[in-house]
Amino acid sequence: MNISTYCNLDFTPKKIDNIWQLTNSPDIVTDGSGDKYIGYEHIGESYSGNRRYIIEESGRLTAKEIAELTGNGVFLDLACGDGCLTVPCAALGTKIIAGDISNSMLKILQEKAKNNDISLENVMLCRMNALDTSLKNECIDTAAANSVLHLISNPEKVVGEIYRVLKTGGSFICVDDAPGKNNENQFDNSLYNEIVSRFYSEYWTELNKFGITPQKYSWKFDRHAYCIKIFGSFEIKKITRGNVYKVSLKDGFIPRFVSRGFSDQVNVPQDMHQKTIDILLDRFAGIYGENFADIAYTGIEDDILITVYKK
Ligand SMILES: C[S@@+](CC[C@H](N)C(=O)[O-])C[C@H]1O[C@@H](n2cnc3c(N)ncnc32)[C@H](O)[C@@H]1O
Repeated sequence: MNISTYCNLDFTPKKIDNIWQLTNSPDIVTDGSGDKYIGYEHIGESYSGNRRYIIEESGRLTAKEIAELTGNGVFLDLACGDGCLTVPCAALGTKIIAGDISNSMLKILQEKAKNNDISLENVMLCRMNALDTSLKNECIDTAAANSVLHLISNPEKVVGEIYRVLKTGGSFICVDDAPGKNNENQFDNSLYNEIVSRFYSEYWTELNKFGITPQKYSWKFDRHAYCIKIFGSFEIKKITRGNVYKVSLKDGFIPRFVSRGFSDQVNVPQDMHQKTIDILLDRFAGIYGENFADIAYTGIEDDILITVYKK
């Protein structure tokens, strides 16, 4: 894929670690009067922890839908992160522009592909700002911006950017979880839930004493209402799942929280974070026992809802 076919640039971009550097925007913007966003450069490996090279079943199932919708065209995976959609789509031979503001996430994406023997020859990796992608008008057949709109203060602008780059007849593909069989989850997760909610709330109570609060931007953005206004029509497809899975605190929540891997922790200074975590780990070992991190959540996989908005 040739960069000049897809991008409008008044400079020749550099390529670092196979990643076209299409923007000079910072990794994170959390103050000032302009648009704000939380890039994951500092989160990197903590995002998926020791599952970062695994291609999840949900990613494979969604990739199949994306590949069918894209055909011989080009799929834009905007804010692609560590490649949970790009990598399984690449395995199906789909042509992809994979853009993210974080080079470290784009590096993990490449490692994930390598670990799974998947070629990225049809993938153009770009350090790109979702608020201003540098892509030409109407050069994209399908696009996704999964799990990112809530991290940006102006999600409407990102949807507008997707609309601009999509060809007429192109698809904006949105992926959501739907409880399905998990609605009637019959497992007792009360202890796990209690620990997670107590850890979260006691962490922020400690930090609130110093005036530090969780950073959230557009968690209440009504994507569907906005997309119906912008795109004329849409279709929804449900993929049913329902296998039982188990994840312990030590394999999921704790390492991610301890590495400051949740986006709302972005403004917590590292020294205060570490001090608070040390206090909480001690306190929780006292209350729930030394091995409290072995406690696991048992769940039933959610169904996947794929909403396709048509330009
Ligand atoms: C929660 S992750 C989602 C990654 C992936 N789409 C997924 O579904 O797993 C959010 C991603 O959005 C990226 N991001 C945040 N703000 C961005 C922006 N303004 N432009 C491009 N990427 C951005 C972050 O760097 C991060 O990789």
